[in-house]
Amino acid sequence: MQDIQFKRHRRLRRTDSMRALVRETHLRTDDLIYPIFVVEGEGHKNPVASMPGVHQVSLDYLTEEMNELVHLNIRSVIVFGVPNEKDEIGSKAFHEEGIVQRAVRQIKEEHPALTVIADTCLCQYTDHGHCGVVRDGEIENDESLEYITKTAVTQAEAGADIIAPSNMMDGFVAAIRQGLDEAGFSNIPVMSYAVKYASSFYGPFRDAAHSSPQFGDRRAYQMDPANRLEAIREAESDVNEGADFLIVKPALAYLDIMREVKDRFNLPLVAYNVSGEYSMIKAAAQNGWVNEQEIVLEKLTAMKRAGADLIITYFAKDAAKWLNQ
Ligand code: PBG
Repeated sequence: MQDIQFKRHRRLRRTDSMRALVRETHLRTDDLIYPIFVVEGEGHKNPVASMPGVHQVSLDYLTEEMNELVHLNIRSVIVFGVPNEKDEIGSKAFHEEGIVQRAVRQIKEEHPALTVIADTCLCQYTDHGHCGVVRDGEIENDESLEYITKTAVTQAEAGADIIAPSNMMDGFVAAIRQGLDEAGFSNIPVMSYAVKYASSFYGPFRDAAHSSPQFGDRRAYQMDPANRLEAIREAESDVNEGADFLIVKPALAYLDIMREVKDRFNLPLVAYNVSGEYSMIKAAAQNGWVNEQEIVLEKLTAMKRAGADLIITYFAKDAAKWLNQ
């Protein structure tokens, strides 16, 4: 053995404290953003069948939900609205008494220190379920921008700390930035869903948010999972248009894209660990096939290793409990 030359990597793995010394990536509760689904009406805490542990809550249950987050040291939430009424242009999305606007107002009143992120999209609010306005069977880009901008401005008026547009229309960051600035909200950042793939991993979310397209699919605006250069072009436009954060979505099957976006742009990068990624692990864990805690912490750490600074995840509460232990 003496004459063979090799490197002893295991020296740095001998003990738990040694491994902690050389650990390169750390997951913190401050990295976690919890998604919440808010429904109209009263007395609702509806379990989402395909997402065990996730509920749609009405405003009267929102308080207890937010108290729980604060108790767990989670400091940011992203709010998705599930409205009672839908119409052709999604007008409930930009109504000042819309469900997201009311939820944001309530959260900021009760917990001013929480960072409240408003999801800015039309798909939950349009009767056809698309993220923009439909004219002659086509999603009308520029007209959609008007409604999306109105939505962002009413959300900022309600007190949202960050606007997160997820509609994938061209020019949405520029339009929203201009709208916010003109309305006096130049201090409100835009967290852009810069790179959003047309993914089957969104299935359970569409149950939770009642946002499935009623005809066709989203491939004329969301990206083809086969493309990498297109992700760079998308992110580049959003940076130029004034985005303050970039989201890559989904997360797990797109860690390569995350790394690339992180290396090219100097903005905080957000991984969206989407509904299908959540449900698959929950289902496997419920069957006793995987160790939920270990697998969740491993994958969240992997997203950070791939370059994510922040993670939007339905596992936020579970992860915070484990991290606080
Ligand atoms: C809607 C929206 C979707 C998600 C977030 N915002 C669904 C979609 O684009 O179809 C998916 C989130 C998830 O799956 O957890 N614009």
